[in-house]
Amino acid sequence: MIWLLLLALSGPPQTPPDPGARAFQRCAACHSLREDARSPAPSLGGVVGRRAGAVEGFAYSDAMRAAGRRGLVWDEATLDRFLADPDTVVPGTDMPYQGGSAAERAAVIAWLRQHP
Ligand code: HEC
Repeated sequence: MIWLLLLALSGPPQTPPDPGARAFQRCAACHSLREDARSPAPSLGGVVGRRAGAVEGFAYSDAMRAAGRRGLVWDEATLDRFLADPDTVVPGTDMPYQGGSAAERAAVIAWLRQHP
């Protein structure tokens, strides 16, 4: 019977926060996942599979617009390289954020895939 008491005292199982949600907190200072958000950075909702610089009405840098015209599309590989070092993928981009471990980048990219 003691195990029943322990079970009752331990409460509902704790679900750990999604590592992607945690990693996205680093982006959320600037980016939103919503289309209509007035944020200092383009919405990342549906970014996986989207051409670079394609959010209607966002004032991208010339560098990002040019990358989109050259045919840069955000997929796992281009996002991973961009997040590791934005300037190597889009030289002159306005995105100031850089860094995160490979695991954090993978987690945030998986999170973005879940928000089409
Ligand atoms: C300090 C603000 C800031 C942070 C933090 C930030 N970004 Fe950005 N990001 C920007 C800005 C500004 C742009 C637009 C860059 C341009 O026009 O050159 C951008 C552009 C992007 C783009 C290209 C979007 C498009 O429509 O082509 C992606 C992808 C992106 N950011 C992903 C991320 C991710 C993922 C994170 C978190 C790991 C992050 N950013 C953190 C400011 C930020």
